[in-house]
Amino acid sequence: MQQAKQLTVDKADWWDNLYRTKRTPWDIGKASPPLVTYLKSPYAVPPAKIAVLGCGTGHDCLLFAKNNFEVTGIDFAPSAIAATHEKFEKAGLSGTKGFLLQRDIFDIHEYDGYYDYLWEHCFFSAIDPSRRRTYVYTVADLLKPGGKLISLWWLVDSKSGPPFSVSRDDIYSLFDERFTIDMAYKPTDSIPERKGAELLTVLTKR
Ligand SMILES: C[S@@+](CC[C@H](N)C(=O)[O-])C[C@H]1O[C@@H](n2cnc3c(N)ncnc32)[C@H](O)[C@@H]1O
Repeated sequence: MQQAKQLTVDKADWWDNLYRTKRTPWDIGKASPPLVTYLKSPYAVPPAKIAVLGCGTGHDCLLFAKNNFEVTGIDFAPSAIAATHEKFEKAGLSGTKGFLLQRDIFDIHEYDGYYDYLWEHCFFSAIDPSRRRTYVYTVADLLKPGGKLISLWWLVDSKSGPPFSVSRDDIYSLFDERFTIDMAYKPTDSIPERKGAELLTVLTKR
């Protein structure tokens, strides 16, 4: 007997449907201001190979590419990949600084050890909380030895997700096993809806 196909947050179709029907409240229409500020700061990591996890429509990808990083936007939703591709093309950065993978992040083991850095923004809060430990090990595996996970966490308190609730304690306790904290601070230039509820961290893979 054929089973009805279940649409859940673990499935690309679930997310793609939101993009196609323009129900994307997480998309702020520009690169995240705290990332813009971080990249201009003396603490910014030097340009190298970075992947943007769950890249969405590619605002942060474009910013990294314009700042000379070799960036790969990874997302399993075709509409997200198409929107990011369009941004890279318009900027003339496609295939030189901007690359794309339309794949499930939990299933790209051939890229283990490939990236210098990973950028995480509203991805952790988008996955089913039961996968969080797997996520920590997955991102550690994708990084080179000593590679860095640079993240803008939205510390959101929600009854159901996505976004699923995320606290500073959740992050520190989960990532402690594989990462060391280089820096962590509350940005002062979050968008109004997230003011005081964001945390920027740079974690180094142990
Ligand atoms: C809440 S959105 C955030 C998008 C983007 N980072 C932003 O801040 O605008 C989460 C994104 O992750 C993607 N995504 C969720 N689970 C995924 C998975 N397992 N593999 C790849 N992409 C995934 C979704 O398609 C969606 O584009």
